Amino acid sequence: MSLADFGLIGLAVMGQNLVLNVESRGFTVAVFNRTTSVTDEFVAKHPGKKLIGAKTLEEFVQSLKRPRKIQIMVKSNAVGAADRDAVDAVIEQLIPLLEPDDIIIDGGNSFYLATERRDAYLASKGLRFIGAGVSGGEEGARKGPSIMPGGPASTWEVMKPIFESIAAKVDGEPCVIHIGPGGAGHYVKMIHNGIEYGDMQLICEAYNIFKHAGFTTDEMAAVFNQWNEGDLQSYLIQITGKALEQKDPETGKSVVELIVDKAGQKGTGQWTLLNAAENAVVISTINAAVEARILSSQRQQRLAASTELQGPAVSLGSDKAALVQKVHDALYASKIISYAQGLDLIKTTGEKKQWGLDLGRIAAIWRGGCIIRARFLNRITDAYRGNPTLVNLMLDPFFKDVLNKTQQHWREVVSLATLNGIPVPAFSASLGYYDSYRAARLPANLLQAQRDFFGAHTYERLDKPAGEFFHTDWPEVIG
Ligand code: 6PG
Repeated sequence: MSLADFGLIGLAVMGQNLVLNVESRGFTVAVFNRTTSVTDEFVAKHPGKKLIGAKTLEEFVQSLKRPRKIQIMVKSNAVGAADRDAVDAVIEQLIPLLEPDDIIIDGGNSFYLATERRDAYLASKGLRFIGAGVSGGEEGARKGPSIMPGGPASTWEVMKPIFESIAAKVDGEPCVIHIGPGGAGHYVKMIHNGIEYGDMQLICEAYNIFKHAGFTTDEMAAVFNQWNEGDLQSYLIQITGKALEQKDPETGKSVVELIVDKAGQKGTGQWTLLNAAENAVVISTINAAVEARILSSQRQQRLAASTELQGPAVSLGSDKAALVQKVHDALYASKIISYAQGLDLIKTTGEKKQWGLDLGRIAAIWRGGCIIRARFLNRITDAYRGNPTLVNLMLDPFFKDVLNKTQQHWREVVSLATLNGIPVPAFSASLGYYDSYRAARLPANLLQAQRDFFGAHTYERLDKPAGEFFHTDWPEVIG
């Protein structure tokens, strides 16, 4: 067989599906897995495909055309820039085998600062590196993911034909662009995941309200299926409807109702929170989503508290159709806030790092392939294409109009849930952000007075020019 166009290390499900995707576009693919029997089984399972199974890394590297293009798909668990993990281990093994200008691509969910470290390190060895976020789960990897590659533009140019051919397509446009240099790709994937957390939590809050209102799982499934035909059309709404329809063959009950209410998380949401705090960007919807997962995981504590701490009697009325419409609007509005916050964080970091990010193009590659793919990403794309310097997504004419039209129902849902003791941390955090952002005057004047009172931190005055700072001689407080 001729030399391979592309190589992939790490044949877990995502890796295998990506290989099959690349191969299906006419490329020959070399594969390597640490446990070699996995490689043998994978190649044997796909006779007639242009696959080269290598038993050793040496054999793998030698089977590739130059400049070699090697994608690593191993689990990254570095939580800080300096942490070494499996990605570093593979890179170290590859370095002595590679030649100048060969390219290593890390396609896992790596921490973006670790990506920047690897980029600089490999450049010092004369090698090229791309940190690429790949979204879409197992199915996306096989049929077309959304890819967020970061690294030097010249390296992207070499990878472009393969990436563009394997990515999902929307209106003929591939769901991949060169995001920016260094860790920009993994950074944008991290925020994608934060937004994913927000979307998922908002959907769960809608479900929880319906559940408390006495909807059956089939009724809820019907609502989500119907929503998937309208403004909320998205992959996550679609799978929610399907999940709610699913019955357990053993008991005949809803599978969803049999699942323990403890959410897992691998860390990208928490990284997003930390990054937002470092950059002083408010991402309260995403925060609420991450924290909701944390609280859910403390199940024993919750079970104990459920018999100790009181709440109100639940009474959500009997007009199910009206409730569905209100929750729809609360979800739609909160989702806009979540994206507004995530995009604000991308914008802020992008400017700070001088990555030259294009929010319109980033939104465009999220329209297909990835977990957060949704109809309304077309609108976000249009918003930034129309106004690349848009300060906040909420102020785009389309989204402004949606928020103005939905805000009343959104408030009613947050109030109703709160009065009934149903937790809606993401709905209410989103509404709190909306109301704070649109407030011409916040109570921070009092806060400034408090700061000046105890620490002489000074304040500006409404009736004096900005930038002039004042201090009051506050009375002495004893005791
Ligand atoms: C994707 C997903 C994928 C994965 C994340 C989230 O875009 O395909 O985001 O990367 O699902 O790891 O996982 P957790 O929910 O476990 O944090």
